[in-house]
Amino acid sequence: MIAKQGLEGIVATTSSISSIIDDNLTYVGYNIDDLTENATFEEVIYLLWHLELPTKEQLQELKNQIADNMELPKEVIATLKSMPTDKIHPMAALRTAVSLLGLYDDEADVMEKEANYRKAIRLQAKMPTIVAAFSRIRKGLEPVAPRKDFDIAENFLYMLNGKEPEKIEVEAMNKALILHADHELNASTFTARVCVATLSDVYSGITSAIGALKGPLHGGANEQVMKMLTEIGSVDKAEQYVLDKLSKKEKIMGFGHRVYRSGDPRAKHLKEMSRKLTELTGEPEWYDISVKVHETFTSQKPLPPNVDFYSASVYHSLGIDHDLFTPIFAVSRVSGWLAHILEQYDNNRLIRPRAEYTGPSLRQYVPVDQR
Ligand code: CMC
Repeated sequence: MIAKQGLEGIVATTSSISSIIDDNLTYVGYNIDDLTENATFEEVIYLLWHLELPTKEQLQELKNQIADNMELPKEVIATLKSMPTDKIHPMAALRTAVSLLGLYDDEADVMEKEANYRKAIRLQAKMPTIVAAFSRIRKGLEPVAPRKDFDIAENFLYMLNGKEPEKIEVEAMNKALILHADHELNASTFTARVCVATLSDVYSGITSAIGALKGPLHGGANEQVMKMLTEIGSVDKAEQYVLDKLSKKEKIMGFGHRVYRSGDPRAKHLKEMSRKLTELTGEPEWYDISVKVHETFTSQKPLPPNVDFYSASVYHSLGIDHDLFTPIFAVSRVSGWLAHILEQYDNNRLIRPRAEYTGPSLRQYVPVDQR
């Protein structure tokens, strides 16, 4: 056996949900560019879960189901309020709250297909509410109840800020949610599939996936990008900052990808959104610093920006706290995780690879007093 570090290039399963071929990303055959320009996040959720775009009626039904399930159990709100909110990362709060949701779902361990689909709706509907509620609670504010007449993008911004968002903000959030919705066998999706392939429940699968997304090599990178942009502070300092980091062999967050070689097709959308939004908010420097980092980094290393690089300045321009960037990624990616979980259950086999053993060869036990 020869181990491939990080399972690079290993095809671990089949899937009909999303594909990356020649650096193009498609969701069930639809190019991500097409969907980002034309679709709503709800249409994409339906597509990922049913492998077809919805009719008007099917879309309305899904929206109604989501609207009916956005409220959190009072016990979950109480637990969010009891958390040491000033000390913990919102991803840790989200991970715990999602696990807790399972305790208040009578169907948590019912493994029938229809019950799993109902749980998918509940999780998709409640995750934005959790993130928004946590954000308000830690500021000493009461959570804002979701509105039934709002879609997920609008509702999320509304619950976060307690006021109706502008149209352009909703459009940006909708696009960002579409762009992050699914991504083949990324680390968190693989985690979710490994978990439920033991025939564990949907809540366990999503809780595990949130844990995997939290890391800075995966979803946690977007927050680190904003931290870097803030540290840089002005365009004239960007070039030297990047060169210094690289000379110390440190990574620059938001660049590189395991699968893409010529570039992440999601990045160009976020770059354009960043340009427009930073101009609109009167803070174009965030875009300008990003572009300078981008130019300097790629002049040194042939690694283009990934989805996390320009999303940082996009979310910042929407007035979102920097440590909520990764939870927003989760609010979107839960649609993909759920699609993969449902697909895994449909054709399940335990996922159990092997390890190439590199430890000592066979030896004899020595009693503790003779060691
Ligand atoms: N900055 C500087 N050097 C880098 C970077 C980077 N961002 N990414 C890769 N490299 C270098 C790395 O140092 C290594 O160089 P050498 O061969 O000289 O040691 C080489 O490129 C290969 O790197 P790797 O870490 O082995 O590559 P990988 O395929 O295992 O990792 C990655 C992919 C995304 C984890 C990595 O590019 C990285 O750490 N990027 C920064 C974190 C980041 O932006 N993550 C978000 C990923 S995309 C969306 C998501 O999942 O959220």
